[in-house]
Amino acid sequence: MNTKTLQKYRFLFAIGLTLFLGVIFTGGLYAAEKKGLLDAYHAENGVACADCHENENKREAVSMVKCLECHDVEELAKATAAVQPTNPHLNRHYNTGADCNLCHHQHKTSENFCLPCHAPFNFMVP
Ligand code: HEC
Ligand code: HEC
Ligand code: HEC
Ligand code: HEC
Repeated sequence: MNTKTLQKYRFLFAIGLTLFLGVIFTGGLYAAEKKGLLDAYHAENGVACADCHENENKREAVSMVKCLECHDVEELAKATAAVQPTNPHLNRHYNTGADCNLCHHQHKTSENFCLPCHAPFNFMVP
C-alpha cells in the first residue's frame, strides 16, 4: 500500500469513527432526556394519565393532594434522610409539607426550588 492510499484509508476511518461515536452520543442524550421526565417514569410504573387527570377532556395542573394518594410524606422524608447537603422532603420552612410541584414536574424538566436562595443545595430533582 502506498502512502497516499494509506492516508485515504485513515481519512475514511476517521469519518466512520466520528459518525459512529456521534450516533452513540446522541442516543445517550436522548435516553437521558427520556429518563429525565417523570411522565414516562410514571407510565412505566403503571400510572395512567387518568390517575392524575380526573377529567380526560380538561387536563390541567394537578394538586399535591393527588400526589399524596400514592406517595406518603413521612416515608419520603425517611427515604431521603441521607441526601446531602439536606433532606429535600423535610426542611425548616415547610417541614414535610412542601408542595411536590415546586420541584417535581411531570411533562417538563423538574427543578430545584431551593437553589435560588441556597446555592449549596445542589441536589438533582428526578
Ligand atoms: C403523576 C401525575 C401525572 C400523570 C400520570 C400525568 N400528568 Fe399531565 N400533568 C400533571 C401535572 C402536575 C401537570 C402540571 C404541569 C407539570 O407539572 O408538568 C400536568 C399538566 C398536563 C397538561 C397541561 C399542559 C401542561 O403540560 O402543563 C396536559 C395536557 C397533560 N398534563 C396531559 C397528560 C397526559 C396526556 C398524560 C398521560 C400520558 C398525563 N398528563 C399524565 C400530572 C400528571
Ligand atoms: C396513582 C399513583 C400515583 C400518583 C397519583 C402519583 N405517583 Fe408518583 N409514583 C407512583 C409510582 C408507582 C412510582 C414508582 C415507584 C416509586 O418510585 O415510588 C412513582 C414515582 C415517583 C417519583 C420517583 C421518580 C424517580 O426517578 O425515582 C416521583 C418524584 C414522583 N412519583 C412524584 C409524583 C408527584 C409530584 C405526583 C403528583 C403530581 C405523583 N408522583 C403522583 C405513583 C403515583
Ligand atoms: C425541594 C424540592 C422537592 C420537593 C418539594 C419534593 N421533592 Fe421529591 N425529591 C426531591 C429530590 C432532590 C429527590 C432526589 C433525592 C435523591 O437524591 O435521592 C426527590 C426524590 C423523590 C422520590 C424518589 C424517592 C426515593 O425513594 O428515592 C419521590 C417518590 C418523590 N421525590 C416524591 C415527592 C412527592 C410526592 C413530593 C410532595 C409530597 C415531593 N417529592 C416533594 C426534591 C423534592
Ligand atoms: C426565598 C428564599 C428561600 C427559599 C426558596 C428557600 N429558603 Fe431555606 N432559608 C432561606 C433563608 C433566608 C434562611 C435563613 C433564615 C432562617 O434560618 O430561617 C433559610 C434557612 C434554611 C435552613 C436552615 C439554615 C441552613 O442553611 O441549614 C434550611 C435547612 C433551609 N433553609 C432549607 C431549605 C430548603 C430544603 C428549601 C427548598 C425546599 C429552601 N430552604 C428554600 C431562604 C429560602
